[in-house]
Amino acid sequence: MSLRTRPWLLSVLLCSSLPAQGAEDLAARVDAAIAKVQPRIIEWRRDFHQNPELSNREFRTSKIVAEHLRKLGLQVDTGIAKTAVVGVLKGGRPGPTIALRADMDGLPVVEQTDLPFRSKVTSTYRNETVGVMHACGHDAHTAILMGLAEALVSVKNELPGTVVFFFQPAEEGAPAGEEGGASLMIKEGVLEKYRPEAVFGLHVFSNMPTGMIGYRGGPLMAGSDSYRIVVKGRQTHGARPWGGVDPVVVSAQIVGGLQTVVSRMTDITANPAVVTVGAIKGGIRNNIVPDDVEMIGTIRTFDPQQRREIIDNIRRLVENTAAASGATATFEIDPGSNPVVRNDPELTTRVLPSLQRIAGGGNVRAVPLVTGAEDFAFFAERAPSFFYFVGVTPREQNPVTAASNHSPLFYLDEAALPLASRSFAALAVDYLSGERRGDR
Ligand code: NI
Repeated sequence: MSLRTRPWLLSVLLCSSLPAQGAEDLAARVDAAIAKVQPRIIEWRRDFHQNPELSNREFRTSKIVAEHLRKLGLQVDTGIAKTAVVGVLKGGRPGPTIALRADMDGLPVVEQTDLPFRSKVTSTYRNETVGVMHACGHDAHTAILMGLAEALVSVKNELPGTVVFFFQPAEEGAPAGEEGGASLMIKEGVLEKYRPEAVFGLHVFSNMPTGMIGYRGGPLMAGSDSYRIVVKGRQTHGARPWGGVDPVVVSAQIVGGLQTVVSRMTDITANPAVVTVGAIKGGIRNNIVPDDVEMIGTIRTFDPQQRREIIDNIRRLVENTAAASGATATFEIDPGSNPVVRNDPELTTRVLPSLQRIAGGGNVRAVPLVTGAEDFAFFAERAPSFFYFVGVTPREQNPVTAASNHSPLFYLDEAALPLASRSFAALAVDYLSGERRGDR
């Protein structure tokens, strides 16, 4: 049909939002295309699961992703943030630009599931030989986004706007001395280059059953800071502690004191917070008081002001507790902290009907704050963003006691993948179509 014989078509083409019927057709076609690609999503996911790679080492994964996107005819950019792959799909109709993000890295965990495609891969991490496992489900995220790209390409001509696919490395944190992840992608200019007006991401989650979606407007996941405390005493014989300064006892006092930072000094009615000591290292023998003790740990917060106060309180407590015993102590925050994952409230309201349409209203639930962290936060800091959880624990199991993400027994129910990919596709297409379809 030509534009001359159908003048109304011109206005449709120039309009950034599709008329309702067109949007419905498009959404239905994408949903059908996603259904068609499901078996391949499972194939890709199993392949990635069996061949996991550590952060900033996602060479094989990113090669497979880039080849797939090229085959689909997308503009593909590599060489970003070490192993990131960015694909750009320009739809045939005018419309907004959005980014969909998937992370690609595995963890230094020895897999203990009995899956036929379990990982037997080993690698080196902190100078130790370790097992590698997709214990956080990033294998599924990557496979889902590859499937989504394929489904959206099949409706390319009718697609209003542009979809940018961010395949991101190193969500779990770059190895010591390296940069990586979302912050490095942003530093290297992906937001300026591709200019998404909104960024979307999802995470598979063991604490919810298959069929459920969890969301939350505003703060969703905690900001995280890693810290290091070094207590410096003076080495002496264990039989003559008065001859030195004992950093082991000072460290014990500091660990006790740290318990008061949240319980006594933080307004927990405003926001929850967590201070954890994860490791203590010091000494070599039963009868030597060592020179120093090192402690490392994590801080989780939901508010920048509260974060600053907690850091100040820890520093004061650490330095003065040490001073009280004649020791000294340093407290350092690692540079690679994650901000809070904050969902844009308006965007959350806008995409909710899309999730409800796909999952069924009763299966989409507002979730409490999550004290886990996610470097998607860096995207959410700079562009209106929405991040949500998809349950992956088989319905017959109790999600509360199921092995959690990062466990060597983490198990992803593949029956959850259709909902994950269909909901991701629906919110993308509905957003591009400028529609709040579930509202009607
Ligand atoms: Ni994760």
